[in-house]
Order: sequence, then C-alpha cells, then structure tokens
Amino acid sequence: MSSMRTHYCGQLNASHLDQDISICGWVHRRRDHGGVIFIDLRDREGLVQVVFDPDAPESFQVAERVRNEYVLQIRGKVRRRPDGTENKNMPTGEIEILGKQVEILNSAETPPFQIDEDDISEELRLRYRYIDLRRPPMQQRMMLRARIARQLRRFLDDRGFLDIETPILTKTTPEGARDYLVPSRTHPGEFFALPQSPQLFKQLLMMSGMDRYYQIVRCFRDEDLRADRQPEFTQLDIETSFLNENEIMAIMEDMMCGLFKDVLDVELPNPFPRMTYAEAMRRFGVDKPDLRIPLELVDVADLMQEVEFKVFAAPAKDPKGRVTALRLPQGGSLSRKDIDDYTQFVSKYGAKGLAYIKVNEIAKGRDGLQSPILKFLPDATVTGILERTGAADGDLIFFGADSAKVVSEALGALRIRLGHDRNLLTGPWEPLWVVDFPMFERDEGENRWVALHHPFTAPNSDDPAALNANPGEALSRAYDMVLNGTELGGGSVRIHREAMQAAVFELLGISQEEAREKFGFLLDALKFGCPPHGGIAFGLDRLVMLMVGAQSIRDVMAFPKTQSAACLLTNAPSPAGDKQLRELGIRLRAKVTE
Ligand code: AMO
Ligand code: AMP
Repeated sequence: MSSMRTHYCGQLNASHLDQDISICGWVHRRRDHGGVIFIDLRDREGLVQVVFDPDAPESFQVAERVRNEYVLQIRGKVRRRPDGTENKNMPTGEIEILGKQVEILNSAETPPFQIDEDDISEELRLRYRYIDLRRPPMQQRMMLRARIARQLRRFLDDRGFLDIETPILTKTTPEGARDYLVPSRTHPGEFFALPQSPQLFKQLLMMSGMDRYYQIVRCFRDEDLRADRQPEFTQLDIETSFLNENEIMAIMEDMMCGLFKDVLDVELPNPFPRMTYAEAMRRFGVDKPDLRIPLELVDVADLMQEVEFKVFAAPAKDPKGRVTALRLPQGGSLSRKDIDDYTQFVSKYGAKGLAYIKVNEIAKGRDGLQSPILKFLPDATVTGILERTGAADGDLIFFGADSAKVVSEALGALRIRLGHDRNLLTGPWEPLWVVDFPMFERDEGENRWVALHHPFTAPNSDDPAALNANPGEALSRAYDMVLNGTELGGGSVRIHREAMQAAVFELLGISQEEAREKFGFLLDALKFGCPPHGGIAFGLDRLVMLMVGAQSIRDVMAFPKTQSAACLLTNAPSPAGDKQLRELGIRLRAKVTE
C-alpha cells in the first residue's frame, strides 16, 4: 500500500493469517494484562488488536509508553486469537497482530473527550471537530457521504450531464433568504453576493446549448437555522434542455432508486407516488407530508357552521378559516397531562387551544363520549364527526379551528409528533413528488404576491394575459421531491420566453428598472434563442442525513456551523482589521447600546 503500511487496520481478517504486515493508526485503547500489553489500533477502516509480550523487550518498552491517540506504525504478524477470546462484534475480531516493531510517529495530549464516548456536548465536538471526526460513527458518515456523491456523479456522467462550475462571487440569486455579501476592494462601496443557488447560471448554460448540466455546489443563505438548515450547504444542482417535467422527474427517480439500491440495498418504488400541493395541505397540513404516519386531517367546517361555540363557528364560516379533525386511533389512553402537553405544543404554531373528543363507547351515544366541547355540539354535528373521521371505541379526536394557515401548521405538526410519540411509523422509506404548486402566495402583511418557488418557474399556462387575469389561481410547473417528511429537492420547468418572464416580474411587483438592474442579463439572454428548459436541486446534506439516519445535517458535514451561524473551530466570523476595512472603504457603525 505504501512504504509505511501494507494494510488498513480495519481490513485485516483471517485471510491474512501468518502474514507479516505493517499498519499505521491511532491508539484507541491500551490495556496492561499481567505482563502482556494490548493496543487497539484505529484507522479510517476500523480497529485491530495488537499484542506485545515481554519476550520482545524493545517493542514492549515502547508499547508501555504509549497513551491514547498516539500515532503509531506497527510491524507484526497476523495470528488467530486464542480460543474463547474471539470478538464476534468486531470485523477483525477473529485475529490479532503479534507486534514485533513499533514506532511512535507522534505523541498526543489527552484529548478533550474520549473517542468512544457517546455523550459529548456538541459545542465541544465542534470546537475540536478534527478529533470528533476521528470517532468511528463520524468516519462512517463521511465515507458514506463520499460514496453517495460518487454514485450520483456516476449516474449523471453516464447520462451525458456535464459538470460545470459557476461563480461564487456573483450577484443576488433570489431563493427567499438573505444574501451573504462580500465587499469589493476594486469597486469601493460595491458588493458581490454569494449564490443562494446557481439558478441563473444554470439557466444561462442551457441558453448556451450545454443541454445537460450538473454540479455538486456550495450555496449560501443567511436564514434562521434548524436541524436541517445550514448557512452554507451543498446542492446537487441539475438543469436540462428540451425535457418536460415528467421526463425530468423520471430521470430523478431512476437516480434515487439506483442510489438507494447501491448504497443501502433498499428498493424504492419507481415511479414515486405523486400528490398535488392542494391534497397535501388538505390531508396533512404541510407541503412535504411524511407518508409513514398513518394519520390524516379531516375537514369538518361544514358541520360546524351553526354551532354555538364561536371559536369553531367563526373560522367555519370564514373562507380563509379552517376547522379540522385529527383522529388518533386508541388515543383514549392519553392522560390529561398528555393532552395539556400537546396543547402547549400546538400553541407554538399559534393555535389557541386543542379541543378533543374521547370516544369511549359509540354505542352509548353522547354518554359514551368525553369532551370539553361536547356541550356546544348538536347531535347531527357529533354524528357527522364520528362518521367522517371513522372513529372507533378507544379513539381520540383532536380539533383545530383558526385561520387555515395556523390550523394546517399546528395540526400538521401535531400529526408528526403523534406519529413519533405513539410509534405509528409504517415503514422505513416513503418518497413522494408534490406537484401543482400555486405560482404565487399572497403576502397579506405587504399586500403583494410572492413566488412560491422562485420567479423563474414557469406557470402551467403559456399565456401572460391568462396569468395576469387570475394570478391567485395559477399553478406552476414546479415539483418537490419529499422523503419521509423532508423536502429533499425542488425544481421546475422554467420560463423561457421574455414576455412571460416580464409578466411574472411585474406581478411580483418588480419594476422594469429593478428587473433590468438585477436580472438584465437573464432578460437579454431570453432574447437570443433560449431553449425550453428545466431542472431541480437536491439538498445533498439532507439526503445524506436521511440515508445515514442522522438527526441533523450538522452530523453529515465535516465542518458545520452552530445555530448562530458561527464556526467554533476557527472562531469565524471575526472582526476585520482597520487596514483591511480601509482598503475596502468600509467604516463600521458604532454598536447600538441600550
Ligand atoms: P430550493 O431553494 O428548494 O431550490 O433548494 C433546493 C434544496 O436545497 C436544500 N436546502 C438546504 N439544505 C440545507 N440548508 C439550507 N439552508 C437549505 N436550503 C435549501 C433543500 C432544498 O430542497 N434553484 C432552486 C432549484 C431549482 O429550481 O432547480 C433551489 O435552490 O433540500
Ligand atoms: P375554552 O372554552 O376556551 O375553555 O375552550 C374549550 C376547548 O376548546 C378547550 O379544550 C380548548 O383547548 C379548545 N379550543 C379553544 N380554542 C381552540 C381553537 N382555536 N382550536 C381548537 N380548539 C380550541
């Protein structure tokens, strides 16, 4: 393998018996057993046990001196472990190395945490990330990430996609977050923006006739961070020409199915099921439903129009309101405290309460039900609810009544929480396409339309006049790939005619001057022979997170940032020196103090 080693520690096994080998790695553990010293030596591929006995005094004395995390080179012979001492839990557990020569390549101070500890604070892990990354679970995740990227590249290379790089110092790309800005020294007072995605460049590449493009590319978004969001993250970014949405989705299904088969030996369905945005919101309250959870929202506004309870009757009559029920099979076992906790939980989404009916015994009529709102509900309403939700004895039905937004978010989140709390998940993998998104969403606060995807997404009508006539009803040619309730990727067929792009900018309240200033290059490019085109981008970190079963994308990124978008390892961001600021023509404002 090299002059220093013949094998990786973790790859030695009974097929190497009696061979003289040389390995390099870190001391994972050292044990003194009455005159014999055992060292578990660790490298990327795993651990192997090395034995030093006093018969070889020179190496024995060195072995006595080593401590955890010392870096060693060991020469020795592979031998079978004595009967009864094999370790079936270790891939190298059948064998051990009889150490003959050991060289200390480097010593190490006592690390801030033990490599095989599980319960280490994330702060400490991020501060000493290079040590955290030595931990076998992190090494496996990084190796799997590399394998996933390799597989995706191979698939796209084989199908004629060209890997083309796009600029990092660029102009704003609207994807709904704030930009990270970089001051220009050569143009004082002016700034580059880091790309929120390569969206505009990949469209330009289609206009250049590249036909099929992909890139594994870093994107930057200054937004509120969560477990599945980082300020810089990686997209698998794709664009194609002369394909419609069904053709694009079919290629992506083949790519994902192949990836899951190769890496996890899992057969995903091909094609993936599809669901419209409207259906997803109606049945699950979110646009990325987790189909592993067998619970659904059931609208009951029509049954609540005339009830005495205003909290229900008012949103039931309001076209922007929503009144919905969520049946939890066998939920009757929930305690008062459980229900209080769930009420607290939905309040985070703005819900003002969480009414419920416990269905003890349907046959007994009202007497068989238990609920704080029963007194407000006429018989016909109660019967209607029980029928529509399919309630059975022992169930519990939750209710949400408010604006459609609050009810969907609150009960959508409650549905997921109940699914996990009650162990209702039906299977490991549930992929889904969500399609038929609205083109625009109303921003009531600012009284304007905003693009649900981005402003380059094509509407499903080719006629700018038709779009203008009824923007609120227009659907787009966008599609999101969802896996187990996580939005893995999103894309669309793009606008490829200048008149339509101008109409969309106008609807979004982007003036002609502003459109020219921000996207003039795109509008110009649309004039010079732009092919019909469309694409998609996947969140690579999210994909890896799901495939390795990690809880956060931070666990599948080598050097992630904290919740407050800082790097604890390098202490970035950090102040800039006066000289640097002067060169950039930047004077800082004094910090505002109370
Ligand atoms: P979109 O904004 O949906 O689309 O992004 C594509 C995918 O990128 C992932 N993602 C993130 N992952 C980690 N941290 C973040 N902050 C973050 N933001 C997004 C998600 C998401 O589905 N240009 C379009 C794509 C296109 O139309 O082709 C775009 O960027 O998994
Ligand atoms: P109250 O009359 O306010 O005590 O409410 C009676 C029941 O209705 C309680 O169980 C509340 O949790 C519930 N409730 C109140 N407001 C709402 C709402 N907007 N949506 C769903 N349930 C509610």
